[in-house]
Amino acid sequence: MSKPLEGIKIIDFTHVQAGPACTQMLAWFGADVIKVERPGAGDVTRSQLRDIPGVDALYFTMLNSNKRSLTLDTKMAEGKEILTKLIKESDVLVENFGPGALDRMGFTWEHIRELNPGMIVASVKGFSDGHHYEDLKVYENVAQCAGGAASTTGFDDGPPTVSAAALGDSNTGMHLAIGILTALRSRDVTGRGQKVAVSMQDSVLNLCRVKLRDQQRLDRVGYLEEYPQYPHGSFSDVVPRGGNAGGGGQPGWVLKCKGWETDPNAYIYFTIQGHAWAPICRAIGKEEWIDDPAYMTAQARQDKIFDIFGTIEEWLKDKTKFEAVDVLRKFDIPCSPVLSMKELANDPSLRASGTIAEVDHKERGKYLTVGSPIKFSDLKVEIKGSPLLGEHTDEILESLGYSQNQIAALHEQRVV
Ligand code: COA
Repeated sequence: MSKPLEGIKIIDFTHVQAGPACTQMLAWFGADVIKVERPGAGDVTRSQLRDIPGVDALYFTMLNSNKRSLTLDTKMAEGKEILTKLIKESDVLVENFGPGALDRMGFTWEHIRELNPGMIVASVKGFSDGHHYEDLKVYENVAQCAGGAASTTGFDDGPPTVSAAALGDSNTGMHLAIGILTALRSRDVTGRGQKVAVSMQDSVLNLCRVKLRDQQRLDRVGYLEEYPQYPHGSFSDVVPRGGNAGGGGQPGWVLKCKGWETDPNAYIYFTIQGHAWAPICRAIGKEEWIDDPAYMTAQARQDKIFDIFGTIEEWLKDKTKFEAVDVLRKFDIPCSPVLSMKELANDPSLRASGTIAEVDHKERGKYLTVGSPIKFSDLKVEIKGSPLLGEHTDEILESLGYSQNQIAALHEQRVV
């Protein structure tokens, strides 16, 4: 089966997580992604948080599958020449260097466009062009703080808290992938490439849109009824941290199940969907609440929502999280066990769907990685191991017309 992005050549000048997550996804869908790395060192994640001495770290292998690796010192004249040749025959260049690094290397947008008018240059930066922080270097948690996630995550009596989900990194990469595909579609029509820029702050904020909604509601009415602070606590003039409250119109919370005293994840997330009130009462054996005016509407329940959650926890006391969900699913109640990474890694459904894939690596052997979360009816996404540093240097140089002798000399001079 041919892959939708086959024939698209991408110069992958990315490192760490935000850029690599983007180009990895495009590689999964068939693009030829050439990861350009500094000779001798490569992407810093190859050696960060290693679990096997001398072997590429999982940090790298899980973000760079299905790619080819070319080592190239793009600050040397010969390196610039090779990059120039590559630019002339590629479709996309993706980079997430610190601000101005690509320009300092001599590859400004104007120069790249001269070399290849069809080229799409896609960049991740911490802040958008023209922002008063545009010069800052940014990592994941910095972006979560800058984009509104940290100030609104955690509990009211605790400090701003970052999420474990890579809202700043991988999320930005996904936004960039959408930008690249949009620019490719536009190029099909106009024949022209363009610059695509995504900032980590903007991408985090895009996912925090409900908190911007809440700021405006708070400004207008002075309280937010779905937050645990309502109605017994108080609000200031900024959106508070809402703990585990549901962000929409349905109250929800993380509730203890059997074994919570010793198992850190013996919990479920329970949602009180308005129209599921009667089934919830039946499920937990509180039929008398169904028609009780003190409980029967969402508004009536608001001031005692934590007492209701307490009653549900009583019901959960003798049930594991899995047993509880097995009962609740019969009543059509939106809920889930709180799953640990170990449980997810061994989940047969995730293995069967390819969301978690076991792949081979030349030096590491088998390891687990995430597969495509996007499923297609006409594309089976195959996940391959990540490349070794410079594994494809020679074949890529050959394809650019370099002879064996020239390639040997480039190695000798440490250009590649
Ligand atoms: N050959 C020669 N030089 C290379 C090279 C190569 N193949 N690849 C990179 N370099 C050089 C760059 O040109 C740059 O040189 P200069 O600063 O002297 O001009 C240098 O390596 C460092 O690049 P930089 O990206 O600034 O690395 P850093 O380690 O100092 O910063 C980040 C890392 C992630 C903080 C920074 O890249 C950044 O803010 N990126 C944008 C936001 C982002 O993506 N954050 C990470 C999310 S996971």
